[in-house]
Amino acid sequence: MTDYALLILPATNRVYADASVRLTQAELEVFNRSVLDGRLREVSEAQIGGVPYVAFSADRLGGRDMAFLSNLPSLYALFEVEGGLLRPLELHPLVRFDSDLITIPKYQGKTNEYFTKLLLNVTVLSTRFPHEMLERSFRVLDPLCGRGTTLNQALMYGYDAAGMDTSGKDFDAYAAFIRTWLQRKRVKHQAEVESVRRNRRVVARRLHVTLGATRELYKAGSTQELTVVNADTGRGLEFFRPGSFDVLVADAPYGVQHGSRTPGGAASRSPVGLLVSAVPVWAELLRSGGALGIAWNTFVARREEAAGVLAASGLEVLRSGAYLGFQHRVDQAVSRDVLVARKP
Ligand SMILES: C[S@@+](CC[C@H](N)C(=O)[O-])C[C@H]1O[C@@H](n2cnc3c(N)ncnc32)[C@H](O)[C@@H]1O
Repeated sequence: MTDYALLILPATNRVYADASVRLTQAELEVFNRSVLDGRLREVSEAQIGGVPYVAFSADRLGGRDMAFLSNLPSLYALFEVEGGLLRPLELHPLVRFDSDLITIPKYQGKTNEYFTKLLLNVTVLSTRFPHEMLERSFRVLDPLCGRGTTLNQALMYGYDAAGMDTSGKDFDAYAAFIRTWLQRKRVKHQAEVESVRRNRRVVARRLHVTLGATRELYKAGSTQELTVVNADTGRGLEFFRPGSFDVLVADAPYGVQHGSRTPGGAASRSPVGLLVSAVPVWAELLRSGGALGIAWNTFVARREEAAGVLAASGLEVLRSGAYLGFQHRVDQAVSRDVLVARKP
């Protein structure tokens, strides 16, 4: 047995940093169960030289194990512990593009990028094909995509990304950002924003981008697709084929604005109404064996209530211990939790 120590990234957001040791333990457990055959033992918090680490032991980790673990969002460095000394291990994260694809966008309402990566990881690992995480070009939909934090992380992994959001402002901001970024980085691509018409009426706007991580890949037709539709998420089947996504990942509206509750009170701001109308559509968009991961504010909707909505659409809610460790405080008005469900 070898002992390992995982150094947590000194995150910029203090609130998230406080929770990141616990969140990393829970996420490690999902990696452990899905792709590491339960070989990680004694995952726990440790202090080394006064600095917090996540410690665990395992029979020596191989290159592929390391390639999986390299994608933990809060991982700064991973060490083998030998006689009280730390020996750094080489990391090989999935990174197709420069990291500023994810770090540049800053705006009110952005979902923390570390948390977004955690949610995407946990959802991909909860599909019936988690071992394909590193090679396969997963098709990811964020049906409440805002200004695209999930979409950018999916692109970073080499996946195809799609999003929907009702906000025209977010749609414009994301379209402007991604086009500028792709041009500035000289990433070979083709992008267009079009009005989608039905019976001569404009029913939505759509951004469609085809990009290649390198010129050679682009020329060879080995491209990634990015599609964003500015429309209500309940209309998903008007724009995307049933069973066409491997994973759906969403951070639901928190039911709070500018850090305070509105006069309507918590109950009227619950995302449950949105989930009740949207989840049947989301479930249909998922392929069999695919998974759905949602984050929501537990102050405005109880876990069992949200889980009930997923189950009512025939999704199998994952309830083992690893999935119960993701609740964390974001601010005074938001305590965020994660639900993951699989389509049978
Ligand atoms: C918590 S935010 C997601 C932020 C996003 N993850 C990001 O980092 O930019 C929730 C999003 O849901 C969108 N939304 C709420 N109701 C919607 C609906 N019925 N259809 C589509 N989008 C909706 C809001 O416009 C908002 O952008």
